[in-house]
Amino acid sequence: MNVIEAIKTRRSTRKFKARAVEMEKLQQIVEAGRFGPTGGNAQGNHFFVISNATALMMLKDMVQTAFAKMELRDDLYKSLKNSIMLSQKGNYSFSYNAPVLIVVANKKDYGNNMADVACAVENMMLAANELDLGSCYINQLKWLNEDPSIRGYLGTLGLKDDERVYASVAIGYADTESGLPNRTEAPRIGNEVVFV
Ligand SMILES: Cc1cc2nc3c(=O)[nH]c(=O)nc-3n(C[C@H](O)[C@H](O)[C@H](O)COP(=O)(O)O)c2cc1C
Repeated sequence: MNVIEAIKTRRSTRKFKARAVEMEKLQQIVEAGRFGPTGGNAQGNHFFVISNATALMMLKDMVQTAFAKMELRDDLYKSLKNSIMLSQKGNYSFSYNAPVLIVVANKKDYGNNMADVACAVENMMLAANELDLGSCYINQLKWLNEDPSIRGYLGTLGLKDDERVYASVAIGYADTESGLPNRTEAPRIGNEVVFV
């Protein structure tokens, strides 16, 4: 698969098989993230590759508990509203029970924190596609940066006091008949372009 093909056929996967992802593939994926560009070559991204089932379950429970405590208001961003609603019903897995979640943090006082993390995440999603794995960008931990339980837990994994999570990516084998991710190119209806 060449790069253009990997870009055009990368689609979000939200249903995963329980099958573990080989460490060799995880290393290739996180290395693709580490090779992303960073502003001023800061290379300040901090990657947490979580595939331990107990750790994933703990995070899932902490995220659900945090959202369940929030007030559900009509003016909230659609996806945040959905997270709160499902959590209050006790039925929420923010990373779709994927067998791997790569959490990416960066310095909270650095201007390109989210841009550097997003570049790394896209690289990792493209690498996952090349390796026949499904992936999905996950925003929820970014909204819960100040939750004491989640911060405390990520702190035990090495998240520093001056770091915050800017994105995560769920990775695993897609729960499809072929085991391959859906690679149907989605038509572009937005993303306006002007050539001059
Ligand atoms: C900044 C950003 C945040 C996103 N957050 C989530 C998320 O929290 N959960 C989710 O399921 N998808 C999330 N997505 C994935 C988008 O919903 C998805 O890319 C979009 O619907 C297009 O579908 P495609 O990825 O299959 O092309 C996010 C994507 C981006 C770029």
